[in-house]
Amino acid sequence: MRQPLIAGNWKMNGSRSSNKALLDGIKAGIGEVKSAEVAVCAPYVYLADVEQQLSGTPIAWGAQNLSTEEKGAFTGEIAASMLLDFNCKYVIVGHSERRTLYGENDDIVTRKFAVAHSAGLKPILCVGETLEEREQGITQDVIARQMKAVMNTVGAKVLGEGVIAYEPVWAIGTGMTATPQQAQDVHAFIRQLIAEQDAAVAEQVRIQYGGSMNAGNAAELLAMEDIDGGLIGGASLKAEDFLTICRAAG
Ligand code: 13P
Repeated sequence: MRQPLIAGNWKMNGSRSSNKALLDGIKAGIGEVKSAEVAVCAPYVYLADVEQQLSGTPIAWGAQNLSTEEKGAFTGEIAASMLLDFNCKYVIVGHSERRTLYGENDDIVTRKFAVAHSAGLKPILCVGETLEEREQGITQDVIARQMKAVMNTVGAKVLGEGVIAYEPVWAIGTGMTATPQQAQDVHAFIRQLIAEQDAAVAEQVRIQYGGSMNAGNAAELLAMEDIDGGLIGGASLKAEDFLTICRAAG
């Protein structure tokens, strides 16, 4: 059985005081989440606060990005070792906003995945097609390219020590959620791609769905066989909505 993972991706939102209120709310309700694992991915500058507020709770935390480099003259970058210094468990790599707005290609995403993994972080690898690509009927080609770039470099075993997040770009922040069946089809395809290299890894790796998942639609998405949690943007900024999604995961 794969333990579902519900992770909040706060993106570039929050403040020290609003984060505290959000985390107080999540902590107050976390006892009602039975089996799902819960995490929040905060902006770098708030990780010290988040660590302080979540230490000793069942809630994990992580970052939204990291450098491809280990240390040195890379002004403005943040290394994997620094994230570990704040006891981050997870780090998101290859989010579509980084791919499209900051020019992160498959090569950069692969390096970030590898650096994060070898430092001891669990990378959450985001993959997903644009609306144009879906309409062209090349969703599987795009997903296969994004997955294989990482898998063929780091190997299926290392890939499986991270988490995959299927995030159709057209569903992110748009309110246009993929239907449970649309999501399930791509999740099954991702699992099949991994199974071609390692069936055991394919069986155990968690594949989250992300893209306008909210308190109202989470249960039907999470009920699908190959959907093992969610990577939540907007709805992770409200404690009650986020907790509803966490409870829906089990
Ligand atoms: P929304 O939930 O706001 O659509 O964002 C999803 C996402 O990008 C999570 O990484």
